[in-house]
Amino acid sequence: MPLFPIFVLLLLANHCVHGTVFHSCKDIYTNDHNSKNGTYTILNRENKPYQVYCEFYYKYGYTYTSRQTSVDFNINDLFTTTDHVKVRHIAGNGSQTETILENIESHKNLSLGLFYNRHIGYAMPINIENLAPYLYVGFLPIIVASHMTVQGYRAAKQNVLFTNCDSNPNSYFVFYFNPNETANEGYGSGWGPSAFMTEWMVLGSAIPAEHAMPPEFFFDYEIHFGGCGGYMFRHRLDNKEGAALGLRFDEYDPCVCSPCQNGGSCRSPSDTRFICHCAAGYTGDTCGDPVLSVG
Ligand SMILES: *[C@@H]1O[C@H](CO)[C@@H](O)[C@H](O)[C@H]1NC(C)=O
Ligand SMILES: *[C@@H]1O[C@H](CO)[C@@H](O)[C@H](O)[C@H]1NC(C)=O
Ligand SMILES: *[C@@H]1O[C@H](CO)[C@@H](O)[C@H](O)[C@H]1NC(C)=O
Ligand SMILES: *[C@@H]1O[C@H](CO)[C@@H](O)[C@H](O)[C@H]1NC(C)=O
Repeated sequence: MPLFPIFVLLLLANHCVHGTVFHSCKDIYTNDHNSKNGTYTILNRENKPYQVYCEFYYKYGYTYTSRQTSVDFNINDLFTTTDHVKVRHIAGNGSQTETILENIESHKNLSLGLFYNRHIGYAMPINIENLAPYLYVGFLPIIVASHMTVQGYRAAKQNVLFTNCDSNPNSYFVFYFNPNETANEGYGSGWGPSAFMTEWMVLGSAIPAEHAMPPEFFFDYEIHFGGCGGYMFRHRLDNKEGAALGLRFDEYDPCVCSPCQNGGSCRSPSDTRFICHCAAGYTGDTCGDPVLSVG
């Protein structure tokens, strides 16, 4: 008598992640949902280690890279959405705030341009020659920003706007590793920061002291908008003021990595479980075992 295909409920032991080798905070969370916020060492694609700070929520989180890393990494491994980023700010007195940043409502169909050491399609930062590597968050690509339109960024669900006066296509936040602690170019040094440039800090929410992130995660940063939005460069004044880029990840769909073998189909009734529906002739949690005929 033929055996019917069987359903097997498997508690999440993610089959995309092997052992304790992690390439992202997402891997760490998927491996253990009770992981604590904090500093972790992960590996880039060449298996070179670098440090990140992982902030975990239920089914999602944010990844911050350490400024002290010198490892080339693929930023695309660290996020699963380009809808928004979270920026943390540390003031000179050590107090930290965080702000969700996204595109303004009139451009909310545009994803953010998130890059490591590149800015493809977006305006070039001022200080890359001496302060690289850098992390780049582009709001409007050049093709959209190079118009005399209302532009800006959205911070904590509020549009922060300016009108581009000369179609200069700057529309970005940049975070410099600045490994040699080099001085910035001095561009725009006579301009005081406008309310537009600092509004994201004003709208930030305070981080309680127990959730403070270590200082090595805060970078020098440059913000540039327009054509008349503004330009601001901030050095981490003796490791005091700075900003950190939080990249959002969402938990894996347990079926994404095709855990079911031999033509089995996968369903995930919850985020932590998957079920393999095995093809005829196979059985086992992941359909790895041939069905033995019973005499
Ligand atoms: C991680 O930190 C955030 C605040 O930054 C907090 O809301 C969250 O609950 C923390 N997660 C864990 C798992 O402790
Ligand atoms: C620290 O500095 C920030 C920004 O200047 C200010 O908003 C905050 O109130 C200060 N906190 C303390 C405890 O002094
Ligand atoms: C996004 O919205 C803008 C403004 O409404 C529109 O011009 C543009 O075609 C949209 N782009 C996409 C990819 O939908
Ligand atoms: C930083 O200094 C090192 C050693 O002096 C040099 O090789 C490197 O090119 C410098 N980096 C930048 C971005 O200037």
